[in-house]
Amino acid sequence: MKAFALGVVSAIVAAGAVGAGLVGTGAISGAASEPHHPAVFRLLEFARERAIARASAGVVVPADLAEAHRVRRGAGNYAAMCVQCHLAPGATTSELREGLSPQPPDLTHPTADSAPNVAARRFWVIKHGIKASAMPAWSRGGLTDDNIWDLVALLAVLPAMDAAAYRATVAASAGHVHGSVPMAPQNDSHPHGAETHHSHDKPHRH
Ligand code: HEC
Repeated sequence: MKAFALGVVSAIVAAGAVGAGLVGTGAISGAASEPHHPAVFRLLEFARERAIARASAGVVVPADLAEAHRVRRGAGNYAAMCVQCHLAPGATTSELREGLSPQPPDLTHPTADSAPNVAARRFWVIKHGIKASAMPAWSRGGLTDDNIWDLVALLAVLPAMDAAAYRATVAASAGHVHGSVPMAPQNDSHPHGAETHHSHDKPHRH
């Protein structure tokens, strides 16, 4: 029994040494153009889902989540901050999205995410982001809890919207509106303070 335990411990130590050696050689790619091995991806996904489920367990969903004013406000901010990665109805991909690994989920499609706590989960993810992925912690970017719930409200109805309905909802919103981020004065050429409203409709060529 003692010998068996010793064997197990030695095997773990040896595997750890081989792993550390491999990391040290630089053989494990850090390139976004080379996705993780599927087994590594599944392990990371499992760890992430367990952590999010635990952290979002106490989140209380507001009773007025389905209100039209929330969906409208969410649409204005989604159009300004999320479409490049998560797409708008009618869009098939974007330049930014193609280069990311993991690729951001297309939030215009009904997802397999039928978890009963989907709203709480989304709120938590938008607020805190996902470490070592491109998903930002939007609470650091000036979004209040209320701004985030507006986005969650939009996401609940987004898959049912066609491109025209989405555009009409964004047009009916006040645009890109949320709390402020403390910024150094030299960054003021791109105002992004409290209740700012700006559009991104200049043509862009390459
Ligand atoms: C620069 C790209 C990028 C931007 C901008 C971005 N996200 Fe994400 N988001 C991601 C990535 C990547 C993931 C998946 C991370 C992973 O699987 O580890 C993600 C995941 C999510 C998820 C979880 C989806 C699921 O079903 O697991 C939600 C919800 C989400 N983002 C909402 C938003 C919202 C709302 C915004 C705008 C305020 C936004 N994201 C902006 C990259 C982005």
